[in-house]
Amino acid sequence: QRLAGIAVDPLRIVGKEMKFLTKNIRQLLGSGHPILDTVAKYYTTSEGKHIRPLLVLLMSRATSNAAKSPRQDQLPPQNPIDDPISPLNILADINPSASTNASFPSSPQSSPLADSSILPSQRRLAEITELIHTASLLHDDVIDTSQTRRSAPSANINFGNKMAVLAGDFLLGRASVALARLRDAEVIELLASVIANLVEGEFMQLKNTALDEAQPVFTDDTLAYYLQKTYLKSASLISKSCRAAALLGRSAPEVVEAAYAYGRNLGLAFQLVDDMLDYSASPGSGALGKPSGADLELGLATAPLLFAWKQNQQLGELVGRKFSREGDVQMARDLVLRSDGLEQTRALAQGYADKAVDAIRTFPECEAKDGLVEMCVKTMKRRK
Ligand code: FPP
Ligand code: MG
Ligand code: MG
Repeated sequence: QRLAGIAVDPLRIVGKEMKFLTKNIRQLLGSGHPILDTVAKYYTTSEGKHIRPLLVLLMSRATSNAAKSPRQDQLPPQNPIDDPISPLNILADINPSASTNASFPSSPQSSPLADSSILPSQRRLAEITELIHTASLLHDDVIDTSQTRRSAPSANINFGNKMAVLAGDFLLGRASVALARLRDAEVIELLASVIANLVEGEFMQLKNTALDEAQPVFTDDTLAYYLQKTYLKSASLISKSCRAAALLGRSAPEVVEAAYAYGRNLGLAFQLVDDMLDYSASPGSGALGKPSGADLELGLATAPLLFAWKQNQQLGELVGRKFSREGDVQMARDLVLRSDGLEQTRALAQGYADKAVDAIRTFPECEAKDGLVEMCVKTMKRRK
């Protein structure tokens, strides 16, 4: 029974599915090489927020009773070849006891415990989104030379850059195999394009081509570039996986578009709040599970700073040299905190969160739809 005005807990709505998420992901990551196995599974041992799979599962349920498409069912999964990426299994041909047991799950099966409104393929999609996200974190921590992730030493610190990069690649490989086994060309294309988008977003962040570093001036392009980067780096995975969930559920085209619009707007809101928290959490407080103020230290000008810069041209010089001189980071931080950059960022994020809610207004009323709305509320209330 849904009670008006009482907040639903999104996690409870798809709790049964979420309970098996980490175990299933670890199954997708088994490798015959014991060290690769450890590094690949490293970020699955700390409890992440699992926002992307949660959204995929909520979207799957929320669209299960929405309009369906006459889209023809595609070919059912053929016999998948045995784990193609565990060459050590070859040893089992010669010596069965050398088998690594690195069995890769075949096509997703429905489980007796599973929620009937969520298809096995949608459950697997949820796992794939977390794999891609985790791969990007492994690489991101190398690029950012991060020391910690989720209050523990980051993979690059524990295992070194080489193994962290390779483990990220391994996750992408396994995600691709799982994706291919869904046997849905449109969904494969969507998620493959996400991987490219993540790299494009990271590249835009690395090398800002909208900025003349010798003489940076704030223009409309500055904000547009930042938002495009933000879509690619953060919103693409959320929006395209929401779209893919609707597609796997054979939703009608307008439902597919709504799912995408929801994910895109929520994804943008989510990253804007993230960029805000990097300023509002006190430095070194550990409240985020990582040091706050990290963006400026990395030379990154995110939304709060861009809005401050719009009002105070003095910031341009600091942006140009990427806050690299002694005292730059502190000065930039103070100027941002004294401006209304944080409020403007919050207002922009709220606008996107509202758009996300609006995108799914025509979905049939159900608990999962309430859960999707609540995810927008939670995104705006987030403190870490
Ligand atoms: C976290 O951002 C990083 C991302 C959202 C994406 C990073 C993308 C790449 C490194 C490109 C390679 C992609 C793949 C799929 C291998 P952040 O550094 O702002 O956040 P953090 O505080 O969590 O580190
Ligand atoms: Mg980082
Ligand atoms: Mg980064």
